[in-house]
Amino acid sequence: MPRAMSIRPLPVVRTVAELRAIVAGWRAAGERVALVPTMGALHAGHLSLVDLAGRLADRTVASIFVNPAQFAPHEDFDAYPRGEDRDAALLADAGCDLLFAPSAREMYPAGFATAVSVATGVSEPLEGVSRPHFFGGVATVVAKLLIQAGPDVAIFGEKDYQQLLVIRRMARDLDLPVEIIGAPTTREADGLAMSSRNAYLTPEERAAARALPAAMRYAVAALRDGGEAVDVEGAVMASLTGAGFGRIDYVEIRDGETLERLGPGPVSPGARVFVAAWMGKTRLIDNWAV
Ligand code: PAF
Repeated sequence: MPRAMSIRPLPVVRTVAELRAIVAGWRAAGERVALVPTMGALHAGHLSLVDLAGRLADRTVASIFVNPAQFAPHEDFDAYPRGEDRDAALLADAGCDLLFAPSAREMYPAGFATAVSVATGVSEPLEGVSRPHFFGGVATVVAKLLIQAGPDVAIFGEKDYQQLLVIRRMARDLDLPVEIIGAPTTREADGLAMSSRNAYLTPEERAAARALPAAMRYAVAALRDGGEAVDVEGAVMASLTGAGFGRIDYVEIRDGETLERLGPGPVSPGARVFVAAWMGKTRLIDNWAV
């Protein structure tokens, strides 16, 4: 049965000082704290992260910040869906304790000059090639959010699997005292990964987009059956093109830990299929474990 929307308003803070004061109170009471960083436009996938946070910690902070530093000038920063009141109601209902919704000025005050970047390894292929600005912006803002909130655990969706690996590397390299947790992708009934950007799809595009999870399912089955990575990548590309996807940024099967390319022969356990492809003006990404 669907739960009634909560009538408990969610406390919202907009400054780092207010956030720190509240978290310090929780810590003084011996409570464990989880952080769920988001860019808002929340869907069931985000709420599953909040739910997991509630099982791992006593208190959950969600952040909403559409981070300009991770969008290139030609990308969808202005169009990115925003709706804080709706998001706050959903977060309250999911059991979140506090929303941190800073302004761009609070996050990047005049004179801000520092960047965090994971220079090599997991940040290089896939999104690193297609969106070269992206991981620098993500690593910088997530490092700031982790330092600002000081959580015991922080939760990120596996839908952005490479982002999760980059954040894990960054937190480890900077000795941030936080456990980075990955949570499984939440999917629509036809298998399409939930994403705030799915809202850009027209009804016709949304119907055609079901070819993406279908191609992923095929790829996983073919690889488990002993198919060669290069053949499976080609078949996935052909089926996406046939279903109406335009530009395909990548279809690649890589190691799920290092993101290294796999050699010829049967794929090793731990491999993952990664796809980024455009349906009309909407860029969709997905990844499935083999
Ligand atoms: O995955 C996202 O929504 C964003 O990249 C994140 C992690 C909140 C950083 O802005």
